[in-house]
Amino acid sequence: MNAAELKRRAERYGQEHLFRFFDSLPAGGRESLLRQIAALDFDLVDALVAKFVRRKGDPEPAGGIAEADILRLPRTGEEMRREREARAAGEEALRAGRVAAFLVAGGQGTRLGLDRPKGEFEIGPVTKRSLFRLHAEKIAAIRRRYRCALPWAIMTSEATDARTRQYFEENGFLGLPEDSVRFCVQESIPAVDFQGRIVMDAPDHIHMSPNGHGGSLKALYASGVLDWFCSLGADTIYYFQVDNVLLRIADPAFIGYHLLGGAEMSLKVLAKNDPYEKVGVYALKGGRPAVIEYSDLPAELAEARNPDGSLKYWAGSIAIHVLDAGFVRRLNEGVFALPYHKAEKAVPFVDETGRTVKPREKNALKFETFVFDALPLARRVACVETRREEDFSPVKNATGVDSVETARRDMIELYSRWLEAAGAKVPRDASGRAINPVEISPLTSLEGENLESWRGREVGPGTVI
Ligand code: UD1
Repeated sequence: MNAAELKRRAERYGQEHLFRFFDSLPAGGRESLLRQIAALDFDLVDALVAKFVRRKGDPEPAGGIAEADILRLPRTGEEMRREREARAAGEEALRAGRVAAFLVAGGQGTRLGLDRPKGEFEIGPVTKRSLFRLHAEKIAAIRRRYRCALPWAIMTSEATDARTRQYFEENGFLGLPEDSVRFCVQESIPAVDFQGRIVMDAPDHIHMSPNGHGGSLKALYASGVLDWFCSLGADTIYYFQVDNVLLRIADPAFIGYHLLGGAEMSLKVLAKNDPYEKVGVYALKGGRPAVIEYSDLPAELAEARNPDGSLKYWAGSIAIHVLDAGFVRRLNEGVFALPYHKAEKAVPFVDETGRTVKPREKNALKFETFVFDALPLARRVACVETRREEDFSPVKNATGVDSVETARRDMIELYSRWLEAAGAKVPRDASGRAINPVEISPLTSLEGENLESWRGREVGPGTVI
């Protein structure tokens, strides 16, 4: 399509302002702007504007919220037997090479003050091991333990792709064979202002942002990663986020519950710390399994309690999933239809004079799809409770809740408990906190194993194992 045709197209959708500066642009600027415009999905943007701007649509479909079935942590002998059975099934799947790992890392580390992919953040409490390295070492350890391929795919976004690949290259693929790791890029989508006009952040540039981690289900398919997994015999995909430092990648019991339950998509949950902890809640919505994002959960439901005082909607999703490869394929080969959610953000824009303005106030809507919106589309879902201290401590903020500090503290506590269980002495303060920072490489121990040589020894400051 040439410039005139693209201009007519933009006009048809009420987006003619995209050409406002066109005539004064140098040739290179014209070309790159036209390329961006040609790639735009105007129908999609128009539908989102109709839903969220013109009708101020409520993203919530009709349908009440009710409690869902959840496999609680095993307490009875029978439940423990079931967990052992699940673990055995998961280990068998791992040994048979049926499992693949899938990391979503399209987000930037902006909240951490990092202008690079979040995975580069140096989180290790002693060694400053990066998040990417922590995950890579877990993957290497699982491959070794189960003698399996465990192919690893990493989803990036336009904003993180080049730098993420460079980081892996510069760091020797963090010790993994290069051909055992693949990258795929999620799609981007423009933001619109409160009148529904696509936001430009320079005279020759449309402001784009990643389309949410729901985009990972499309990226898996469109990039050929799903075919790669399947060609290696991996039909069970372990999905995780980059920011969780305690995460157990390819947890065999969770995989086993998913497989034995005949599930197409599964999730791990834990008991929320308080009604307003910033995690999505697992429940039935309109009779279907769903995660309701914390910002969408009405206060009366967030605070609803059972007669014994416990929260009625207690199950916070920690964004760890197992996905059946056939399910991901089915989602893509039908009409790929995860709903979009809107978020009001402060987005840089170009003013009348062609100058870029970085507003402090929210001025635009960004659109994202969420991976957990695939849950209602799955024929079966297994929802499994996990232990916070063994599976969840995300690095979201520089300080405070879910911060660098809490993540490091939780790593030190986990490693210290492992060492104590192996018979080591861990000095603790009056409140029971381990005093000395300690860090254990996943290559040495994944779950507290291999620490026998620490029996009777004291853990000193800055211990690296
Ligand atoms: C998310 C979940 C929340 C869950 C919590 C657990 C959403 C909307 N909410 O919250 O239900 O309880 O994590 O920690 O996701 N990402 C992409 N591409 C994108 C957007 C995000 O790859 O377009 C990745 C990020 O790199 C990160 C993950 O998705 O690995 C989560 O993104 P983040 O913005 O941190 O989600 P939260 O709102 O904290």
